[in-house]
Amino acid sequence: MGLPNPGIDLFAEEMAVAVRAGPVIGSVFGSNAKEFAELAAKMEDYGASAVELNLSCPHAEGYGAEIGSDPKNVRSIVSAVSSSVDVPVWAKLTPNTSSISELGRAAEDGGAEAVVAINTLKAIVISAELRKPVLSNRFGGLSGPAVKPVGIRAVYDLRGALSIPVVGVGGISDWRDAAEYILAGASAFQVGSAVGTRGPKVFGEINRGLEMFMSDHGYGSVAEMVGVARE
Ligand SMILES: Cc1cc2nc3c(=O)[nH]c(=O)nc-3n(C[C@H](O)[C@H](O)[C@H](O)COP(=O)(O)O)c2cc1C
Repeated sequence: MGLPNPGIDLFAEEMAVAVRAGPVIGSVFGSNAKEFAELAAKMEDYGASAVELNLSCPHAEGYGAEIGSDPKNVRSIVSAVSSSVDVPVWAKLTPNTSSISELGRAAEDGGAEAVVAINTLKAIVISAELRKPVLSNRFGGLSGPAVKPVGIRAVYDLRGALSIPVVGVGGISDWRDAAEYILAGASAFQVGSAVGTRGPKVFGEINRGLEMFMSDHGYGSVAEMVGVARE
């Protein structure tokens, strides 16, 4: 998990290695606008090409979705960060809301250069034998194949509501999943759980499959595919 991390200062070392391999999007989370702005500025100092604000983790009290499901908070946090860094600011949104488009509009108004959707769905698993939740935290975040249709719907809605790019994430484990997100309106995509189940080779496999699909269907670039299923 990203949240129980050793703290921003220890990222200096890891980022120094990571940025040599290619552009890095630095993800940060805080409990208020000031914390987000300070952390984002450090990520920028470490060489991040963009910062992604985690406004959406469903199981951390006082963080994530607890603050990111209120459009006013989203706008003020994104705006505070945008005026503290020069790199693009991406807002990662929660699906645990009645209108993800409203959150997206708040992020766009606050100066976000992209939105990322979705984070995990707030969920709970009960052990029948133990008669209690299996997680000591009670709630957790549901990810993987089960959330893909929810993620695609979120991307579809956001693409219709915003002018900034939408980055799709949720249940992508092969090229077909990625293609579905792009056709729904995602300009780029991320892979989470499938890195755990399939390992880092998943990225190359998805990209190679997507390239074959694009050449079979006459797409010269991802941009030509974005949102085609909306037309
Ligand atoms: C074990 C685990 C840890 C995660 N940690 C973070 C995190 O620290 N910050 C964040 O923004 N999202 C976090 N996520 C959410 C993922 O980045 C992603 O939005 C979500 O899992 C849906 O994508 P997937 O189905 O490809 O995993 C985490 C997800 C999982 C499963």
